Amino acid sequence: MSVRFSWCGGEVGAWSILVHGGAGDLPPERREAHAAGCREAARLGAEILAAGGSALDAVQAAVTFLEDDPRYNAGTGASLDERGELSLDAAVMDGATLAVGGVCALPPFRNPIAIAREVLRDGRHVLYAGEGAARFAEERGFFRADPATMITETARARLEETRRGQDGNWADGTVGAVARDISGHLAAATSTGGTVGKRYGRVGDTPIPGAGTYADDLAAAASGTGYGEGYLRTGICLRACLWIQEGKTPQEAAETAIRMLWKRAQARGGILLVAPDGRLALARSTETMSWGACWASLEHLTAGS
Ligand code: GLY
Repeated sequence: MSVRFSWCGGEVGAWSILVHGGAGDLPPERREAHAAGCREAARLGAEILAAGGSALDAVQAAVTFLEDDPRYNAGTGASLDERGELSLDAAVMDGATLAVGGVCALPPFRNPIAIAREVLRDGRHVLYAGEGAARFAEERGFFRADPATMITETARARLEETRRGQDGNWADGTVGAVARDISGHLAAATSTGGTVGKRYGRVGDTPIPGAGTYADDLAAAASGTGYGEGYLRTGICLRACLWIQEGKTPQEAAETAIRMLWKRAQARGGILLVAPDGRLALARSTETMSWGACWASLEHLTAGS
């Protein structure tokens, strides 16, 4: 499996943000709109960074925007599990302190990334699951959502196709972001509904530090999207960050990660990276992975799929 596409950007010493809207195989007519959403998410994060805000706030803002957009597999519009229900995974990590917060198998809440951020802020534990995660969220003032307001017709149709064996259970549309702020701190955030028709209780790579999300100011920050079991087996986000710490360029690290995912775990997908100096890179082995980026100035706003 070869790297189908890779990209690098950013500027040494500047703030930067890179956002993804999921690796997959979008039909050509949906690609432009998917990229436009990522561009807008990157712009929202960039406005925070340009005003001197933190990388953590920037990645949360970008992911929140995509969770609220029903075209992506996160928050509203997320994939359904084998029961036809939402079971959401999300994590956010602070590269300055290695503080990390995650939720997994979360019942419907509108913005899982906001709950993950509260887990990070609280600091007692790293990851909450299922009803325990829901209880934590409610204690902190979050409200359960009516599933009918979050489940889309598209998500129901994808589940039916998967049940009939007409479609893979590909998790395209997972969303994520990595950023460096002007103080040099890194952060990463990722949110997903997981694979379509996944077994009840399945947890993917997204909320697991080092698998689907990772940030360390001394190494890099990463967000993954793709076949989560492969990301879990390889710990690929942590590996890619360490390759940058050891001297690989962000683009070399991203491409190496994508090749290793296929070679060692037969997994396809994509990865985003930001280095401690602000350089950005992404790579994917899938047909598409919508993305948006911005660095140094709001004029440097770009996107693709
Ligand atoms: N990468 C998202 C998932 O497999 O759940």
